[in-house]
Amino acid sequence: MNVINNQLYIGELHASEIVKRFRTPVYVYDDDVIRHKYRELADSLSYPNVKIFYAAKANTNSRILEILREEGAGIDAVSPGEIMAALNAGFKPNQIMFTATAVSDEEMKFAISKKILVNADSISQLGRYGELNPNSDVCLRINPAVGAGHHDHVITGGPDSKFGIWVGDLEQAIAVAQAHKLNIVGLHQHIGSGILDANKFMNAVDVILAAAKNFRNLKFIDFGGGLGVPYSPDQKPIDINEFGKKLSGILAAFSKNYGKELLFIFEPGRYLVAESGALLCTVNTIKKTPKHKFVGVDTGFNHLIRPMAYGSYHPIVKISDAEGAEKEKVVVYGNICESGDVFTIGDRELPVLKEGDVLAIMVAGAYGYSMASNYNTRPRPAEILVSGKKMSVIRDAEKLKDMLE
Ligand SMILES: Cc1ncc(COP(=O)(O)O)c(C=O)c1O
Repeated sequence: MNVINNQLYIGELHASEIVKRFRTPVYVYDDDVIRHKYRELADSLSYPNVKIFYAAKANTNSRILEILREEGAGIDAVSPGEIMAALNAGFKPNQIMFTATAVSDEEMKFAISKKILVNADSISQLGRYGELNPNSDVCLRINPAVGAGHHDHVITGGPDSKFGIWVGDLEQAIAVAQAHKLNIVGLHQHIGSGILDANKFMNAVDVILAAAKNFRNLKFIDFGGGLGVPYSPDQKPIDINEFGKKLSGILAAFSKNYGKELLFIFEPGRYLVAESGALLCTVNTIKKTPKHKFVGVDTGFNHLIRPMAYGSYHPIVKISDAEGAEKEKVVVYGNICESGDVFTIGDRELPVLKEGDVLAIMVAGAYGYSMASNYNTRPRPAEILVSGKKMSVIRDAEKLKDMLE
């Protein structure tokens, strides 16, 4: 997915070809970008025993799951629905881990019935899991007391976070596991999402590796996801080769001291799919107040909630014709009946827009469609995958009549 001379290309197609065929609003993804991001991360890690478990929540489209399976990924699933989506996309049970929070016994029974490894998020869950499935393998999700992320809502480590077993309570967790003859085969953490400062990730790696020394039967350590991608022009991508090199050295040294070559797992979601996707929409209204010029489009936070939920920046590109040189400050707003439904947080300088122009809201492949809803009783759009010159519908647009049944 590239913007060249103010024109958007997805694979080898010009965005206008997609709009002509599918109209807007529509999500479009570039197959090559997903594969490239997967390989870039996998290749950066020279430690021999590493697996990438794609965090399906970022984008659960079955074709996207299949692409990542073809590349060699496993799956981080956070609900029975995501387990089913992964199994339907051809993942084997041993390629899936179930990492949920506030987990009910029914959900654990479901995972057990599908032979999926359960990652306990609390001592309560661990005890209940032990009752349901004694003498089995289990993983513990720890809260390493440090967190990071692009917004408070996505920081998942530290004393304010609901996630994981507090790192100071691991003795208690070991006792509960022993009482049920559970074999703790893995330790897991995930400190947050949208991390662009690799040092923050590394600090948490130190914490889990220190904790891991007290567990003698480990087969793997899972560092979670969280690797960020740049959204706004002022953000810099993580230097993934440097990250991989540094980490691989740490992992090799740890395994040597531990006495066996452990498996290390990473669970990226956003890093793999965010840059593969765009939400295309059409300007249908231009209006003004004394303070702002407003540009209304045929989509809203029901399709892409990140700006509304986190104040997130998404690049917006005019793709209907070459951008003119003239620019002006506008607020791009959606068709949902709430004032927070804006795609620019405040004014943004964009090429002068008119009704009928088509826009691409970029970097929308992660937490876009997967967080979409039917709010305001509006259908969700189609999802289109471009592979080279070929475009395929990988999810049909919802129809109002189906929604209302
Ligand atoms: C347990 C777990 N792993 C991985 C991820 C993926 O995060 P990201 O998309 O930032 O890589 C999440 C996201 O919330 C998560 O909760």
